[in-house]
Amino acid sequence: MGAQPSLRILFLTGFMGAGKTSVGRALAARLGWRFVDLDERVEQQAGRRIAEIFRDSGEAEFRSAEIAAVNQVVQEATEHATVAALGGGTLTQPQSADRLRQAGAALVFLDAPLEVLRQRCQPTASLRPLFGDEGAFQQLYESRLADYRRASLRVNTANRTPEEAAAEIALALNLNRTDEIYRR
Ligand code: S3P
Repeated sequence: MGAQPSLRILFLTGFMGAGKTSVGRALAARLGWRFVDLDERVEQQAGRRIAEIFRDSGEAEFRSAEIAAVNQVVQEATEHATVAALGGGTLTQPQSADRLRQAGAALVFLDAPLEVLRQRCQPTASLRPLFGDEGAFQQLYESRLADYRRASLRVNTANRTPEEAAAEIALALNLNRTDEIYRR
């Protein structure tokens, strides 16, 4: 067998509205890496919007599709250096969290004050099945914190452009356009 291809993969985690997709795109553009949005991948494969999957098939089916998408993205990262935006609840699934760990992926937690997260989500609330009232939103956020805090880096995205947050990540993890963050 020849040498294993090097794996370059970085996942962004954090609650709804943290900026995972916009910061992920900016970071991928900065590094010259490929960008994958996990929610988008799930929707493409299911041929349905996430809200429809939740409504018609339930959250468990969404989580299964999400686990499959994580596996796919990790597999693809053996060929393409990848920045991927997770969904806000991806890490609640042990299979997904374990897969990321096994892959040696870098994990970055994007965060912002709760009211900022809520304001950002408001315009697309109808597309977000787990966007509840203020109390439910806070409770869900708090229930996720232990998962998010497993990340090696936490970045506050409030009052920052996606490019600024991406620059902070690149600096903190010492990533340059051609850097490899993991080699096996
Ligand atoms: C979810 C967050 C959403 C999406 C789905 C479930 C969650 O992703 O995966 O609606 O469990 O918090 P975003 O965090 O990108 O909004």
